[in-house]
Amino acid sequence: MCGIIGYIGKANAVDIILSGLKKLEYRGYDSAGIAVIVDRKVHIRRSVGKLCNLYLNFRERPISANIGIGHTRWATHGKPSEENAHPHTDYTKSIVIVHNGIIENYAKLRDELQNNGHEFKSETDTEVVAHLIKEHYKNNLLYAVQKTLIKIEGSYAFGIICKEEPDKIICARQDAPLIIGVGKDENFIASDVAALLPHTRDMIFLENGDIAEVTVDKIIVKDVKNNMRSVKIKSVECDAVQSEKSGYKHFMLKEIFEQPSTIENTLNGRIYPNEGRVFIEEVKIKEEYIKKDISNICVVACGTAYYAGLVSKILFEEFAKIPTEVDIASEFRYREPILNEKTLVIVISQSGETADTLAALRLAKNKGCQTLAICNVIESSISRESVHVIYTCCGPEIGVASTKTFTGQLTALYILALDWAFKRGKLTKESLKIYLKELEGIPLKIRLFLEDVKPIKIVAKMLAHKKIFLYLGRYLNYPIALEGALKLKEISYIHAEGYAAGEMKHGPIALIDASVPVVVVAVAGRVYKKIISNIEEARARGGVIIAVASDSNEEIKNKSDYVIYVPKTSEFISPIMTIIPLQLLAYYISVFLGCDVDQPRNLAKSVTVE
Ligand code: AGP
Repeated sequence: MCGIIGYIGKANAVDIILSGLKKLEYRGYDSAGIAVIVDRKVHIRRSVGKLCNLYLNFRERPISANIGIGHTRWATHGKPSEENAHPHTDYTKSIVIVHNGIIENYAKLRDELQNNGHEFKSETDTEVVAHLIKEHYKNNLLYAVQKTLIKIEGSYAFGIICKEEPDKIICARQDAPLIIGVGKDENFIASDVAALLPHTRDMIFLENGDIAEVTVDKIIVKDVKNNMRSVKIKSVECDAVQSEKSGYKHFMLKEIFEQPSTIENTLNGRIYPNEGRVFIEEVKIKEEYIKKDISNICVVACGTAYYAGLVSKILFEEFAKIPTEVDIASEFRYREPILNEKTLVIVISQSGETADTLAALRLAKNKGCQTLAICNVIESSISRESVHVIYTCCGPEIGVASTKTFTGQLTALYILALDWAFKRGKLTKESLKIYLKELEGIPLKIRLFLEDVKPIKIVAKMLAHKKIFLYLGRYLNYPIALEGALKLKEISYIHAEGYAAGEMKHGPIALIDASVPVVVVAVAGRVYKKIISNIEEARARGGVIIAVASDSNEEIKNKSDYVIYVPKTSEFISPIMTIIPLQLLAYYISVFLGCDVDQPRNLAKSVTVE
């Protein structure tokens, strides 16, 4: 977690770093800080809470500098406080460092340094690194960093400056993203592309083990042993405007409303419904492998992406007839999954930087599995390390709660499952055409639905004060119940649980009384009658029923307290539709409660620590 940024050039580093931090705030926002060097003197400003506090600090006491580094924090070691906020320095205030990652052996190093007389000011793992660099410093910052990196274990992206060498930033990467933005008479470092886009499109994506010396007009990349590393400058295509709110009150709302277009973008050029053909250019998995060699699929992800994976299990098994299991990445990596070269491991990740998902991918590669990533962020670690990648073409997702990337992931998984079902002879061309047409039509249906969200606002207002919510679904919509509950918890802090509706009577039904809203996904399809029985059971215990039902279902009105109608779809495609009202319900409840929708407490957008 955490975002880092650095600048060296002729402009005011403070302005560039502050605006970069704004773009990186999604990575952590419990405190922030900036260090600059002016006339060989280090100035550090740090503040607790949102970035606006740091802005205020610089507005009250402006400072101008041509070199600086900045950080926005998601606390791992030590509570959010000014002392623990980055940048950190050694005791002489000569070496200044910002860090994203975790130094695993920091406690041992800290003890050793304390025995050598070093005094520490924070509880962080990062401060140790500043002190260690100081220990090795003999008028050569790059050398001191190289020596230090040999001693530390863990993950890091560092930005380091030194008052004795105010003409350079040293940066290094190991299992945390770090990008150098290449400018003209200026250069930048940052945790992600979005922070650099206003300044340059030319970027160097550092690899693990890279250590770079960045000056105004030169970038040298080496390793710890001082060997030169080869680097490529890539030109990044991305629309900076996508990272703006464009008139919406929150990024989350904007991202919910973008879904018709983001689904279209993910489908574009990949499905041909009239011909009954799927063409995913980037995926070069041999047809032979899909037809014969594959024995099973293992889908691995975290959070929302995991729930997309749960939907895909049904698709791969029911359509393509490939045995599929789905696992949470943090569990998968620490058990002993049975994997071999016949297993296809699909990792799903919006950010492409989630530490556990990345570790799962590496584990799969070590076991010789075929790997495929479904990822939103181009050039992220997961997309670069996976053998095959399908990008969800959703553009930057800034709201911490995933919305458009969830439907993007579902869309990509639907295409894959249909394609492979056809290739394996489990689906006729005619059926494939019908399903592809359904997929092609879903953006329009979502667009129509989004034209009137009043019914959801009404339900949200009526129920925002409730303390517990239950979400029920069955079959393809069981993962949607889980995802709906996750959305509510993360942005409104209301306790919400998703259940497979048939499981209720095995325990959770005991929770229901007149104070408990029960949100039930009850769209037309093979489990509709079953879910109606589950609604009756919840009603009999006094639960407040909110049904998400297919348009013109009159029956459900008599069985529910509130009905949110969605356009009719086939049951097969319904998860892409039914999640939309649940996203909006969570959103409006959060707004009514006055919560911080885009930056909920304790969370960060990409979880780059395990
Ligand atoms: C969902 O709203 C969350 N922000 C979270 O569960 C997220 O989906 C999870 O951390 C996985 O992130 P990734 O897709 O970037 O790997």
